[in-house]
Amino acid sequence: MPKWSPNSWRNKPIRQVPQYPNKSTLQNVEKQLANFPPLVFAGEARTLLNNLAQVAKGKAFLLQGGDCSESFAEHSADNIRDTFRVLLQMAVVLTFASRLPVVKIGRIAGQFAKPRSEPTETKNTKTLPSYRGDIINDIAFDETARIPDPDRQIKAYRQSASTLNLLRAFAQGGYADLHFVHRWNLGFVGESAEGHRYSQLADRITEALDFMQACGVSSETAPQLRAVEFYTSHEALLLGYEQALTRTDSMLGGYYGTSAHMLWIGDRTRQIDGAHVEFCRGIENPLGLKCGPTLSSDELLRLIDILNPKNVPGRLTLICRFGSERVGDHLPGLIRAVMREGRAVVWSCDPMHGNTIKASNGYKTREVGSVILEARRFMDIHRAEGSYAGGVHLEMTGQNVTECLGGGQAISEADLSSRYHTHCDPRLNATQALELAFLLAEEIARGRSSETARAAL
Ligand code: TRP
Ligand code: MN
Repeated sequence: MPKWSPNSWRNKPIRQVPQYPNKSTLQNVEKQLANFPPLVFAGEARTLLNNLAQVAKGKAFLLQGGDCSESFAEHSADNIRDTFRVLLQMAVVLTFASRLPVVKIGRIAGQFAKPRSEPTETKNTKTLPSYRGDIINDIAFDETARIPDPDRQIKAYRQSASTLNLLRAFAQGGYADLHFVHRWNLGFVGESAEGHRYSQLADRITEALDFMQACGVSSETAPQLRAVEFYTSHEALLLGYEQALTRTDSMLGGYYGTSAHMLWIGDRTRQIDGAHVEFCRGIENPLGLKCGPTLSSDELLRLIDILNPKNVPGRLTLICRFGSERVGDHLPGLIRAVMREGRAVVWSCDPMHGNTIKASNGYKTREVGSVILEARRFMDIHRAEGSYAGGVHLEMTGQNVTECLGGGQAISEADLSSRYHTHCDPRLNATQALELAFLLAEEIARGRSSETARAAL
């Protein structure tokens, strides 16, 4: 392997680069970022890697979710809390069903940059550069708004820091205490069918906690009841920003991306000789690799060689996004190649990105039915191949949005316009996310019982 450095990606072909009009202001911003404090600590990224190693071995489950794209306009405590709380609810459901620890990672506190299929966007007769996420330009459809502005990187860094600060407080400061399992079910979620189902499960947990309390196990004596480990992640797309936040670990050496605990490579930027793969191979964080329908098994094995040459379990999560109709054509071959070569990976299902459609009224949307179907097929295929379906990767929000069709609330095309707030892709709302968690829980429990059955034979 040629030598790596935090800027070696600059000599490689790169896709999805914003055209900054002024290179010296960009350099100036990158210099400032390079002096800012890291957002995460290397030791935390190492702990996450160890937790993901447990997932790779089939001893834990991965739950990763959050916004498609965070925005400056919607930066509020309520938004952060609501996303966090739905993730807690989903984690409860999954932990209960799988009887396994659930590794919790948000697509949050840094998920700002978006790859686009077209460099420009045309409305009526006007053509402008595409919106690339709030860290790069503004979503408003006008000339100046769409010019990439380096100062947005500073703003994104500061927003990430304050989001992360609140998340740490929620995770460690008492909000996530299992004794509050009922309180995470407030508002519109609680009134839905999924909310009722959740409430019944919460009753059982509360009962178990009361029993344990009588036995002397409380939040005071068992701090793991009171807190969760919560990690952050985003796509490592804007490499100048990621490079500026790359630091050497003062404890053990090695380079860490300190913008988030985990970073992933998108399906559009995973070229073997490309800049994004080059950057990511050199940092020690756990990595994700998005796997779409154009990825061949040979290509995947070469990418694994580059990104995880020492075959460290937990280092690499393959986030599969084929679409409900195509997962059956693509996934089995990849699983077989990985098993044949003995590669330790986490298999995670992104049932969102392969199922994006255009509604007849023009809205970009997804059917909850297709999302659920892809997740179910993903689990079935793994069961058939004898490998472990280790996690999910979702675009979701705690808000009561109407961006995806169907689900328990039976959102129709006509409903989409009422609360369609996303800056990019359509997200599951809180009840739809909970619905998916219950489906996954059923699938996991099914796998568990057949395992028990097999052990009993
Ligand atoms: N600390 C444990 C865990 O993270 C138990 C726990 C505490 C928990 N609060 C939680 C689990 C909220 C799920 C959701 O698994
Ligand atoms: Mn998306």
